[in-house]
Amino acid sequence: MKHFLNIKDISTRDLRKILIDAKKRKKKRKNLNLLEVDNGSPLKGKLLIQMFEKSSLRTRLSFYLAIKQLGGSALTLRPDELHLSKGAESIEDTAKILSNYGDAFMLRTDSDNKLEEFKKYLSIPVINGLSPSAHPTQILSDIFTIEEIKKKKISKLNITWIGDSNNVLNSLIAASIKFGFKLNIGCPKNYLPEKKIMSYVKKNKSKILFFNDPKKASKNSDVIFSDKVISLNDKVNKKKKLNDFKKFKITKKLFNYTKKDCIFLHCLPRGNEVEDYVFKSKNSKVWQQAFNRVHVQKSILLYCLGKLR
Ligand code: CP
Ligand code: NVA
Repeated sequence: MKHFLNIKDISTRDLRKILIDAKKRKKKRKNLNLLEVDNGSPLKGKLLIQMFEKSSLRTRLSFYLAIKQLGGSALTLRPDELHLSKGAESIEDTAKILSNYGDAFMLRTDSDNKLEEFKKYLSIPVINGLSPSAHPTQILSDIFTIEEIKKKKISKLNITWIGDSNNVLNSLIAASIKFGFKLNIGCPKNYLPEKKIMSYVKKNKSKILFFNDPKKASKNSDVIFSDKVISLNDKVNKKKKLNDFKKFKITKKLFNYTKKDCIFLHCLPRGNEVEDYVFKSKNSKVWQQAFNRVHVQKSILLYCLGKLR
């Protein structure tokens, strides 16, 4: 069994294996209904337990469908209904129960430490469904979407991120190092990734560059990524932060600097960081991006449960 907590901790070989499996499975599902099971029912009899300590639409639905399409089932726990959330039961004891009543645990949380603690005590895999420091299932799925659209390995493409240095960007940075793709990051001077991430970038031979001008960051890019300026539970002066990012909005004009066929991606939900025109334009592939999550997460589940062929 394998955990899926951070892209940086998983070998490039395994990440690539997940993407290859997802591609094969997606192809075979063309004429199947949402709840029809993949050939061979590889996770028959398995239960995925998921819990969201923060809001979610896509991650919740795509993990539910993922386990169902592999022949298993899902149960979503409400954190406020567990003793754990009231400090009335430890992670250690909660993990013991989850390990015996479930086969995998997916957690969206406000605490990276909690994920580490669960990892320590669970004897089943734990998957990070978004934490303050990472959103690994999102980014692996986004690599899948990019390669599907561009019909090229991501290492041959120029990727640009315009926006906040948040959990999604951290996972994109890790992916850039693992898959060896060029990544330009455009953000205001005071909003660079935190020290730990910057030293991870420096320590690894990376193709990552930082810009405080969105036009320079977008030059020649094949893909522009963005995300909300204010993340879930972001404890900042919102008015000030939004104002600091004013120049970093994804506009139609920005696409004058990119390659002609540059696509726009956004993990969703969106805020005001992207013009409606861009969001609804031909360049925007946000819906394809959102719907691919189910395919990649199926292969992540198989990887975690030692069933990846
Ligand atoms: N992109 C994403 O994780 O969406 P949700 O917050 O709706 O799960
Ligand atoms: N960065 C965002 C991603 C939401 C899917 C957040 O953490 O709120």
